[in-house]
Amino acid sequence: MESIATIVMLIMVSFTSVANALSVNYYDHTCPKVESIVVGAVQKATFNDKTVPAAMLRMHFHDCFIRGCDASVLLESKGKNKAEKDGPPNISLHAFHVIDNAKKAVEAVCPGVVSCADILALAARDAVTLSGGPSWDVPKGRKDGRISKAIETKQLPAPTFNISQLEQSFSQRGLSLDDLVALSGGHTLGFAHCSSFQNRIHNFSPKQNTDPSINPLFANKLQKICPFHNKVNNAGAQLDSSSTRFDNAYYKLLLKGNSIFSSDQALLTHPNTKALVSKFARSQEEFERAFVTSMIKMSSIITSDSGKEIRLNCKHVR
Ligand code: HEM
Ligand SMILES: *[C@@H]1O[C@H](CO)[C@@H](O)[C@H](O)[C@H]1NC(C)=O
Ligand SMILES: *[C@@H]1O[C@H](CO)[C@@H](O)[C@H](O)[C@H]1NC(C)=O
Repeated sequence: MESIATIVMLIMVSFTSVANALSVNYYDHTCPKVESIVVGAVQKATFNDKTVPAAMLRMHFHDCFIRGCDASVLLESKGKNKAEKDGPPNISLHAFHVIDNAKKAVEAVCPGVVSCADILALAARDAVTLSGGPSWDVPKGRKDGRISKAIETKQLPAPTFNISQLEQSFSQRGLSLDDLVALSGGHTLGFAHCSSFQNRIHNFSPKQNTDPSINPLFANKLQKICPFHNKVNNAGAQLDSSSTRFDNAYYKLLLKGNSIFSSDQALLTHPNTKALVSKFARSQEEFERAFVTSMIKMSSIITSDSGKEIRLNCKHVR
């Protein structure tokens, strides 16, 4: 009996994965130009605004961590429903126009065929490549969702998380500690506002104002940029010393206590993750290889809550 149940289970599992299977060749016949159109849109936008690649990468991460990669992050609030993009950690989400422009250009040649979720996954890959990072084939065939709720942004990992909280957040999405270390390397690009790291530089604990794991010189620099606790403004710091170049500087800085978030620093508090940080600090090639593998995993997260349609405009359900 038990073995029959197991076989039935196995069949069911393989069915769901077949139904959800993404493929690199997905649009070969229906929209062969999609990849070149998206890369063109990201390239053009980056030429005018160097912060675009970081925005694309974070937007895709945010999308995949809530309801799977289904473009829920792109929907606008409507009526009483406040969408993800108007939820609390939305402060760093920007450059939505890049996806909208890419979608318009794609609709002009193959209407109603390519999902917004796929366009975002391609844009994230292109952002990395255009910043001097690796390239890879993006599996495609995601569908767009109809639900986006601001309150669900609470499901994103917080920058104050420790290693066990990070591990849990990632494992709930089928991602391992190895994926956590490789994907945290996304912090080689972009910017953080003071509000995202103030816990480390003001009132850190009853006894210490500053997080003792931060390099004191670096803490001092951050305190100068962000002199006040809980003051909302646009000030902040680059996530690494070469914030428009996709490189392994993030890991080198992390080992010196020069990382921005508690969640970055936390990677040094577990022997396995610490060993990986050291490995990626030593070898850009090892980092890139691991990053590509983990990105493909993250960007293939599809849940039963994920979408079923192809939107015509990424801001609105069909
Ligand atoms: C491990 C858990 C993670 C936490 C806690 C986290 C947290 C954050 C926070 C708080 C910010 C700054 C928001 C702001 O102040 O504007 C940020 C920025 C960023 N994150 Fe992460 N993140 C995580 C994982 C990732 C992953 C997996 C990626 C992509 C692979 C990523 C890519 C980025 C990028 C590119 C930025 C810069 C955005 C910009 O400049 O527009 N992060 N992250
Ligand atoms: C973030 O949310 C605030 C408040 O809900 C909203 O005014 C703002 O436009 C949002 N930012 C982005 C980039 O969508
Ligand atoms: C992480 O934080 C949680 C919640 O505050 C706590 O229960 C847990 O013990 C912490 N884990 C580590 C490794 O510090």
